[in-house]
Amino acid sequence: MPLDGQLIGFLGGGVMAESLIGGLIKNGIVKPEKIFVSDPDEERLQLLKEKTGIKTVADNLQLTQSAQLLIIAVKPQVISEVLADIKQNIKAEHSVISFVAGISTDYIESYLGGTPVVRVMTNTACLVSEGASALCGGKYAESKHIDIAKTIFSSVGKVVTVKEELLDAVTGLSGSGPAYMYVILEALIDAGVRVGLPRKVATALTTQTMLGAAKMVLETGEHPGRLKDMVITPGGTTSAGMYALEDGGLRVTLMNAVMAATEQSKQMSKGPK
Ligand SMILES: NC(=O)c1ccc[n+]([C@@H]2O[C@H](COP(=O)([O-])OP(=O)(O)OC[C@H]3O[C@@H](n4cnc5c(N)ncnc54)[C@H](OP(=O)(O)O)[C@@H]3O)[C@@H](O)[C@H]2O)c1
Repeated sequence: MPLDGQLIGFLGGGVMAESLIGGLIKNGIVKPEKIFVSDPDEERLQLLKEKTGIKTVADNLQLTQSAQLLIIAVKPQVISEVLADIKQNIKAEHSVISFVAGISTDYIESYLGGTPVVRVMTNTACLVSEGASALCGGKYAESKHIDIAKTIFSSVGKVVTVKEELLDAVTGLSGSGPAYMYVILEALIDAGVRVGLPRKVATALTTQTMLGAAKMVLETGEHPGRLKDMVITPGGTTSAGMYALEDGGLRVTLMNAVMAATEQSKQMSKGPK
């Protein structure tokens, strides 16, 4: 077990930290008493403690004394402040995982010297244990550090490893992806209502159809194009629907969305580096 004996410290106890803590505890990967959290919001800390049984500490500096594996879970705007807080106390025993959007491993290493850093881009579906995460190691990260990060993020979904230069593309695809899927779901539900279905029924059928299609791709390993072809009979209903989708430029619209979001992520990553 790659996490054996490690004490884990979350810098920031927000929404994402809570979902990870939940996944780690639920899957028996770490016991609650081995997890420490720092956060400026006392009430938030108290709530987390009551909900999950983790330990809380007074500040970020104290967190570095309590844990070896430090997980940065704050918003990008405060990461410099957090790194400046912990810098003086970082020792050889420490390693860092950051899932702060747009912050490079180089930037973190510029504060923490030779500390092993793993950077992760994840998404909101971690909250329901169906996250899609991509990760990469910094200059000083070894395979054991990557394995630890994989174990942690696997507790709340699927994980892949990529080169750091691809993380903007990951942001554009799966980071922003839940929003694209919600728009598609909403549009299909509205369409169901338009053709006469009660909204509740349209919602149940649409969400299950999206879930089922994704599961078919995952579980059969078939190319989605082949699975699509299997649904279409010549001159049939799906064929008529497909023509309308192509006529509306759905594919190129989705590709444009991913390209625009990737470009935006590249621009935003030019901030603190
Ligand atoms: N939510 C997502 O779907 C998602 C997806 C991918 C990546 N991410 C990344 O995950 C990170 C966390 O997102 P989130 O949604 O969990 O944010 P969040 O709920 O706002 O959590 C951040 C927490 O950090 C606390 N904090 C602020 N300053 C701090 C400091 N100096 N030291 C320690 N803690 C501090 C905040 O407290 P206050 O509220 O009191 O300021 C808050 O409780 C972000 O960098 C985001 O880019 C999020």
